[in-house]
Amino acid sequence: MSETLVESGTAERKVFIKTYGCQMNVYDSQRMGDALRGEGYRETDAIEEADLVLLNTCHIREKAAEKIYSELGRIRVLKAERASQGREMQVGVTGCVAQAEGAEIIARAPVVDLVIGPQTYHRLPDALRRARAGERVVETDYAVEDKFEHLPDASERQIRTRGVTAFLTVQEGCDKFCTFCVVPYTRGAEVSRPREAVLAEARRLAEAGVREVTLLGQNVNAWEHTDAAGRRHGLGSLLRELAEIPGLARLRYTTSHPRDMGDDLVEAHRDLRALMPYLHLPVQSGSDAILKAMNRRHKAADYHRLVERIRQARPDIALSGDFIVGFPGESEADFEATLALVREVGYAAAYTFKYSPRPGTPGAAMDGHVPEPVKTERLERLQALIREQQTAFQASFVGRDTEVLIEKPGRHANQRIGRSPYLLPVVIPASAGEVGDIVTVRIGDTRPNSLMAVGAEPSDNLPPLSRAMRFETATLARTIA
Ligand code: SAH
Ligand code: SF4
Ligand code: F3S
Repeated sequence: MSETLVESGTAERKVFIKTYGCQMNVYDSQRMGDALRGEGYRETDAIEEADLVLLNTCHIREKAAEKIYSELGRIRVLKAERASQGREMQVGVTGCVAQAEGAEIIARAPVVDLVIGPQTYHRLPDALRRARAGERVVETDYAVEDKFEHLPDASERQIRTRGVTAFLTVQEGCDKFCTFCVVPYTRGAEVSRPREAVLAEARRLAEAGVREVTLLGQNVNAWEHTDAAGRRHGLGSLLRELAEIPGLARLRYTTSHPRDMGDDLVEAHRDLRALMPYLHLPVQSGSDAILKAMNRRHKAADYHRLVERIRQARPDIALSGDFIVGFPGESEADFEATLALVREVGYAAAYTFKYSPRPGTPGAAMDGHVPEPVKTERLERLQALIREQQTAFQASFVGRDTEVLIEKPGRHANQRIGRSPYLLPVVIPASAGEVGDIVTVRIGDTRPNSLMAVGAEPSDNLPPLSRAMRFETATLARTIA
């Protein structure tokens, strides 16, 4: 394979980045790609032609972490093949496994040249130089400086290649210490990015043609800003400012902790048309005893009250959630309380997990671990209920009009794919509009996890949802339970 030459005359290197885990890792991978571009690297989808391979890893469950070691086994073979051709392949592990198991990775996987935790990505170019000089680099400090301040901005071209929707990290880390979770250890303490930096990045995205921004944070609704007069402002105020940016038609945020849903944020759902009526609000369990053991610091009834407040503010809102089954001590009655909560709340979608004991977390040391077959059986029962709700939610759109942001061409020439406000992919006629347009379409049919449109009209100047539709959706949200 011949190496391409960049304008400066130096050989262009290629980087392959594989991303595991949550949306924040997706965003971080993009920022690392941006930083490496300045170092002469171009991203490739073909691992065998990469001069640098980065695995951006997730430590949330045991399976997620174990995947990395098997992937490193495959990479070892590729690296040896390249070495036999006299070509280099540097291998880096980044993300949450890097943070949690830095030294162990170096000891267990000789193929790895560098390990970099999530708070030190701005040191990546320097780490690569050191690794090239023969050092096996481990960078897992919680850096005092703000990595985002030191990472280059994406160019307009880079933003455009990523499409009309974008992620934007506004908050990182977690102080909640749920007893099952590694995130407070892998991502560190809660830190909010400065308001000005967030607004500047959002403006750059909008100017490049991005229409929808999803604000990211482990506890995104813990974002805060203190103004010059010493007043504190929360995520609701940030959303209000973002909604003013020309071109940004849709705003979302994830993931929220129920304890941090302040009035200002709930009111933003009432007031901002750009704020999509779809909220990921994990509760994990419906049993007060388990919520307490998980250190979630609220009861099931608090969650119900919160959902009620949010639905009053935005009647057409739909919810998604996260649930863990088989947390230590979970009895059949505790599990049934989770089923009861799901029935009462009614979800448009939900992620369900078997509890996975994570080294170093309090949950792992608790008594009453639930046998694997019981976890499997509970997971299946919960998933069946959620599937029922999800199917009913999707079917409820048939015969109705919905707004779609067109994201990409479809599989057939006469089709495009867009997203509904509820993140459901919608297949629409190509004549409906171009990528980046928002159109109103009539839904004719559902497919597994997508909707099929029958007709479309442009709706960039959208009127508010009709009262009838708001009512219908709100009723639906309750009756699907
Ligand atoms: N910050 C988010 C969640 C981050 S992790 C929040 O507070 O909701 C994403 C999801 O993974 C969690 O909501 C939880 O449902 C699941 N999860 C985290 N640790 C887990 C573990 N040890 N075993 C099983 N699922 C886990
Ligand atoms: Fe983990 Fe809990 Fe923090 Fe979410 S709030 S990241 S589940 S510790
Ligand atoms: Fe995984 Fe880290 Fe995200 S553990 S879920 S990649 S914050």
